[in-house]
Amino acid sequence: KRSTIYVSLEPCSHYGKTPPCADLIIEKQIPRIVIGCQDPFSEVAGRGIRKLRNAGREVTVGVLKEECKHLIRRFISFNTLHRPFITLKWAESADRFIDTVRTDGTPVILSSPLTSMLVHKKRAEADAIMVGRRTALLDNPSLTVRNWYGHNPIRIALDRALSLPNDLQIFDGETPTFIFTEQERPKKKNVTYINIDFSHNPLTQIMKELYQRKIQSLLVEGGSQLLQSFIDSALWDEIFIEKCPDRLYSGVKAPEISDKFSYSTEEHFGRQIWHYVHQD
Ligand SMILES: NC(=O)c1ccc[n+]([C@@H]2O[C@H](COP(=O)([O-])OP(=O)(O)OC[C@H]3O[C@@H](n4cnc5c(N)ncnc54)[C@H](OP(=O)(O)O)[C@@H]3O)[C@@H](O)[C@H]2O)c1
Repeated sequence: KRSTIYVSLEPCSHYGKTPPCADLIIEKQIPRIVIGCQDPFSEVAGRGIRKLRNAGREVTVGVLKEECKHLIRRFISFNTLHRPFITLKWAESADRFIDTVRTDGTPVILSSPLTSMLVHKKRAEADAIMVGRRTALLDNPSLTVRNWYGHNPIRIALDRALSLPNDLQIFDGETPTFIFTEQERPKKKNVTYINIDFSHNPLTQIMKELYQRKIQSLLVEGGSQLLQSFIDSALWDEIFIEKCPDRLYSGVKAPEISDKFSYSTEEHFGRQIWHYVHQD
């Protein structure tokens, strides 16, 4: 009865998986509530704050608002834009290539053991991870979390004509995988084939599907064509680019971002630097 409760997000006012938090605060007779930011979710959107004020509580809203919004950025994108929070990620050489020219063999290594471990941490924080058809084919990535703790994200690949071979790691059945295609759906363990119309804004259709499947965050790990199509469609919230100081001289060009976006923050990991770009 003499305490102050500090919350990053407005206490909810509706019955979801649990009863309303605002009711519990009222029941416990907590007199003072300090809230970071209002809940963007339409079923709450200020109703929790009103409920507390109507019960005679002292409510302060907006303390460290931007920091609190950053904490819940995935939840905000999901509830306001009706799509997952989209992070685009790639590693590039000093002369802006993401791979050498090749038709098979292993991809060029631009990351260090430390940064590749931290990418696995990013994977563990995402609900889903996506690659283009050529990356799935040429790099044969498993897209799982191995060098960090946490769950595997749902793997997503595009395969319009179903040309990807069955022995790729993404088809190993180890973790749920979505394949967006316009072909008949074959049966494969842990693989869900989702039909979309590739001739008409495929990314928009994919985002709609992911929203319906309650996927709140998506990490797009390449290649260049897929990343560029997200950038060109303005479908991204955050980009992080791993810069390697070595040169490749030729190969697959890194995606291009408009000059109006600048690097907002950077993190140094030995020779590698992570640059972040944000929409706002
Ligand atoms: N350094 C890094 O961070 C990094 C990360 C990943 C990959 N890579 C490298 O990148 C290279 C592959 O990149 P890439 O640009 O050639 O290929 P990609 O982006 O991996 O795949 C391109 C293919 O994906 C499909 N696709 C992509 N965007 C689409 C869209 N918006 N709508 C519908 N389909 C779409 C198309 O498949 P269809 O042809 O079937 O229509 C397209 O041909 C590899 O060399 C790989 O090693 C580097």
